[in-house]
Amino acid sequence: MTPDPINRRLGVLISGRGSNLQALIDAIGDGRLNATIAVVISNREDAAGLERARAAGIEAICLPHRAWPTRDDYDRALVRELRARDVDLVCLAGFMRLVGAPLIDAFPNAILNVHPSLLPAFPGLDAQRQAIEHGVKVSGVTVHLVTAELDGGPIIVQRVVPVLPNDTVESLAARILEEEHRAYPEAVQMILDGGWRVDGRRLVKV
Ligand code: GRF
Repeated sequence: MTPDPINRRLGVLISGRGSNLQALIDAIGDGRLNATIAVVISNREDAAGLERARAAGIEAICLPHRAWPTRDDYDRALVRELRARDVDLVCLAGFMRLVGAPLIDAFPNAILNVHPSLLPAFPGLDAQRQAIEHGVKVSGVTVHLVTAELDGGPIIVQRVVPVLPNDTVESLAARILEEEHRAYPEAVQMILDGGWRVDGRRLVKV
């Protein structure tokens, strides 16, 4: 079979469970996302997502960050592995590392992240706990382009999720996660479809 010329190659970076990776695999499987996952890379050997990838027949490797002396060295190693597999677009899916200039410069406006809040509210770790503790009535999901600013890049898609009076961090996280699994593949497809540009910190249609 001749490969589909518009079928683009994703590299997915993970650190753990990999449920958003699974959502991307499933969306490709049922035709909602026209892409191929070329490689899954984890910075942790014990990431359950590595097994999910292998079960789907996707190459999955571990690059333990401690094996490189600096963050930039680690980022350069990631770039080498991604380039070696002709990756077009990098999807962070629960990748618990700050990404720096070597990776961002190698994939300009081509790194996406999914975050469990309505950014710019509650960036960083434990976004769901931050939402509960702040007492907000709605939170949600943001998929954005990755820049040097933590959780600060141009927003691609946002979805609102209610925070209910009796929510715990766990119940809110589970409700948000369901929406992450819908929003992430949609945002990836939007970026692959093109017809957008970055204007300041806004993603706008062309
Ligand atoms: C998700 O909540 C994602 O938004 C955040 O980390 C979590 C990763 O979960 N960045 P999973 O590994 O995709 O299941």
